[in-house]
Amino acid sequence: MTKASSHIGEVIIEARDIVKRFGGALAVENVSLAVREGEIHAVVGENGAGKSTLMRILAGIIEQDSGQVVMNGTVLETGAKNSLDAGIALVHQELSLVPEMTVAENIMLGYAPTRVGFTKSQELNAIATSALDEIGVSVDVNERISRLSVALRQFVEIARAVARKPKVLILDEPTATLTPAETDYLLDMLQRLAKNGMAIIYISHRIPEVFRICDSVTIVRDGQRVMESSIEKTTPEQIVDQMVGRELKLDLQTKRTAAAGDVVLSAQGIRAPGVEGIDLEVRAGEIVGLGGLVGAGRTELVRAIIGADNRTAGRVTITREGKTVALTSYQSAVRNGVAYVPEERRTDGLALGMTVAENITLTNRKELSRYGVQTRSKIAKFSQDLADKVGLRPPEIRQEAGQYSGGNQQKIVIAKWLGRRPDFIVLDEPTRGVDVGAKAEIHRLVKELADAGTAVLVVSSDLPELLELSDVIHVVRDGKITGTLHGAEANEKSVMSLAAGEKMVDA
Ligand SMILES: Nc1ncnc2c1ncn2[C@@H]1O[C@H](COP(=O)(O)OP(=O)(O)OP(=O)(O)O)[C@@H](O)[C@H]1O
Ligand SMILES: [Mg+2]
Repeated sequence: MTKASSHIGEVIIEARDIVKRFGGALAVENVSLAVREGEIHAVVGENGAGKSTLMRILAGIIEQDSGQVVMNGTVLETGAKNSLDAGIALVHQELSLVPEMTVAENIMLGYAPTRVGFTKSQELNAIATSALDEIGVSVDVNERISRLSVALRQFVEIARAVARKPKVLILDEPTATLTPAETDYLLDMLQRLAKNGMAIIYISHRIPEVFRICDSVTIVRDGQRVMESSIEKTTPEQIVDQMVGRELKLDLQTKRTAAAGDVVLSAQGIRAPGVEGIDLEVRAGEIVGLGGLVGAGRTELVRAIIGADNRTAGRVTITREGKTVALTSYQSAVRNGVAYVPEERRTDGLALGMTVAENITLTNRKELSRYGVQTRSKIAKFSQDLADKVGLRPPEIRQEAGQYSGGNQQKIVIAKWLGRRPDFIVLDEPTRGVDVGAKAEIHRLVKELADAGTAVLVVSSDLPELLELSDVIHVVRDGKITGTLHGAEANEKSVMSLAAGEKMVDA
């Protein structure tokens, strides 16, 4: 850990006693924060702690109820334009680019709109190109965003913020969708920007990242600041304890002992766009992991298996209680006890305008009666139990799903499918954006499900998670399985070398 603090200067941005309510609920309660030039300051906390809300206030996107944002000693008027003019740029938690527009158009979106003739494409391209150069990412500025990988989109988001030449750069969970190599690249880049004097506010659920690049950390819990410290003076354990407000026992190395049963899911010769002929089986009580880099074809594979996307070749069967059925469509899969937790929770997984209880029970009506749960009060209890199990915060099952923070929305999707007690479940990046405490809970639930006899298929780019959950790992590269690792054969190195192949990846 090399941390030269010599380049850290004066306090440039301050939040003073910020308060923000949504309806009756306090999202941010008297939080103060000060960040210096050249400093990377982490803001960490559980899902729903108020991190994104505070950042949106700093960026002038939403208005605080009370308190002040101060730049260089001057109190800022609220408003996104004022924050941007003062040199504050925010990279949002959810990607905010316009897919149909080009890289250059997105980077320049809303940029200096008052200058007549500014949209001349040459000039536009030049500024976009120099922002991309500054972060060292090469991508054709005339390419449409919809044609780029998720990782490249994330880097374009960052270029868009950097093009504003900000004095304060705020990144809200920028590494959630990145592979380890891409994450390394991003972290190095942020350190470089900080060395040149930029103040950076960095939000992440990954504590090792915080220790690698940050100089200081602010911890928020239930909307309040509970701790502020330089990185040298704290430890990962202390940060996690402060985040959750209790001592958290992360039993991260519990391996399951239950032996796998009969084959439940069999997929043979699967071909689909991005999938080049894959065979795989998942047994009752077994957790099979799919490792690989983002873009390797894992999501395409699982979608082709369950029929969410069309297969061009191959056969999928599910066997339950001695009876084998061929799965020909997504509807037939769901009818036959298949559950799917998709990667894109906001678009595929949730009805944002409906309540948590409705989201959980919608898919569960039939199952509920199977377990004798029919009355309104039993249904409410069923939803509440599941919401509690996944650690939804606040545990208000009558609140709209769309009002929950990013990580909590993911928990609702998980709860909704866990409640079905499926025969076969596919989980694609199940804990992306989920905080450490809830992540451990979700891992426990997935293992419980397997122990109860469900066949589980997990896609995860989070290596510790993949290793923690899987009984066996298939590594996918370029739409093919390049290796299968059992038990002790599986470790970060063996998975990564199969995933990356000969050539190492560029960010
Ligand atoms: N538009 C809104 N309407 C109602 N409540 C909201 C709204 N936005 C946020 N909240 C609530 O404010 C609280 C803080 O949410 P916030 O998004 O700031 O959390 P977070 O710390 O960023 O969490 P995560 O790690 O999941 O991203 C949550 O309880 C959330 O439900
Ligand atoms: Mg957030």
